[in-house]
Amino acid sequence: MKISRNQLCPCGSGKKYKKCCLNKKTAQKNIIRGAAKEKDKIRIKNNSDIAAIRRAGRLVVETLKLVQTHISPGIKTDDINKLVHDFTIKNNAIPATLNYRGFPKSVCVSVNEVICHGIPGPRVLKDGDIVNVDVTSIIDGYYADANQTYFVGTPGEDAKKIVSVARGSLKEGAKMVCAGNTIGDIGWAIQRYAEAKGCSVVREFVGHGVGFEFHELPQVPHYGRRGTGPRLVPGMVFTIEPMVNLGKKELSVLADGWTAITRDGSLSAQFEQTLLVTKTGYESLTPYPL
Ligand code: MF3
Ligand code: CO
Ligand code: CO
Repeated sequence: MKISRNQLCPCGSGKKYKKCCLNKKTAQKNIIRGAAKEKDKIRIKNNSDIAAIRRAGRLVVETLKLVQTHISPGIKTDDINKLVHDFTIKNNAIPATLNYRGFPKSVCVSVNEVICHGIPGPRVLKDGDIVNVDVTSIIDGYYADANQTYFVGTPGEDAKKIVSVARGSLKEGAKMVCAGNTIGDIGWAIQRYAEAKGCSVVREFVGHGVGFEFHELPQVPHYGRRGTGPRLVPGMVFTIEPMVNLGKKELSVLADGWTAITRDGSLSAQFEQTLLVTKTGYESLTPYPL
């Protein structure tokens, strides 16, 4: 892999290669070679791949709509799991999270201070809660991944704010998706927006390439610097899924090994879609209005 002097440095600094790693010692050169190779591992999708991911995406969106009609005070998070599981199977699809790296359920359900990867169970939703439902379906071997955060009953001011900022964060990130921009442009736009609203962006979980597998390259951080990271090309498919906290960005993972919560107990919200990069912008393969 030859890197030209005037190209952006693959180490992700945002500087030109000649002003950055070109003259650095061997160890660092190896790091940047690694970064350049990572970029080559992003698997571009062809038209028939895209058609299949679109079909999986359509089911994910239908599932999220169905979930919306059932969200109300008094239901258990496990009721959402049953709803998603049965609907997915009925539609000849597979719920991707079930047994994924040991995850025990067919959907992630994350309430209030839970950032993501909540395991459905006996918790009962109550008036004023917010709940994120994250659905990934496999059809004909192809994956699509999306989530939404819902209000349970009547939201308070804090709930309204964090859900609005999380939705806006995905919108701002998606606006940057266009061939020629970089992965770093997406995180930069999200971080700028969310922090301007006084919220914080989770660092430990990122968006990801998706389609052939659940999690592929590239990683898509929801923070960072403009002009850094891999350049977007038509046929790339990845999620943007900012997790935004009303308080501080730090998290803890519970003893179950999955449930991530805000360390300060503040509310956290998230929206996710699977996007295809096109020449002029993007197409959402899991389209729902933002
Ligand atoms: N759907 C999540 C994502 O957006 C991943 C969930 S993995 C699980 O990437 F194991 F927690 F289900
Ligand atoms: Co995802
Ligand atoms: Co997801």
